[in-house]
Amino acid sequence: MKQVCNIFLIGPMGAGKTTIGRLLGKCLKMEFVDSDREIEQRTGVDIPMIFEYEGEAGFRRREADTIADLVRRVPIILATGGGSVLLQENRAALAANGFVVYLKCSVDRQVERTFKDSHRPLLQTENPRQRLEQLMATREPLYRSVADCTVDTGRYSSRQAVREILKAY
Ligand code: S3P
Repeated sequence: MKQVCNIFLIGPMGAGKTTIGRLLGKCLKMEFVDSDREIEQRTGVDIPMIFEYEGEAGFRRREADTIADLVRRVPIILATGGGSVLLQENRAALAANGFVVYLKCSVDRQVERTFKDSHRPLLQTENPRQRLEQLMATREPLYRSVADCTVDTGRYSSRQAVREILKAY
């Protein structure tokens, strides 16, 4: 049986990983870290700038290095970027080091919650909805493959989602 201590939140952009992670951290009196903010602190630049200068591949490398460090910082609540599950090494690191919660979110809701978002480079496109659909088609099976529990954020407020996670944890 998996040793439960860390909680890792995975799921698409707009699922509420940061809001729910922060609330969970308060409830459990555990440190909360958002991997994107950690990458920004480490590099001193924001995510769009990393994408601009190093491309998505460069960002993914930094994200994997950051996640590899953070999963060992026990105990921690970690909100990961929506694309973190793309790399097998991240999926393995998350699965091996904590309780993984998939925050499920419909594309409609993702669109609502990321509307006019200039901080997410992958959504700087003519048709963000189509992009979000494409991303979900690839990523949803990966989210499912690594999740210990799934919470549908469309059904719950952030506080209720926290309660659902605590029931399963
Ligand atoms: C990304 C999601 C973002 C951020 C980057 C790439 C993705 O994080 O890591 O813009 O590939 O889905 P959030 O899921 O926290 O928005």
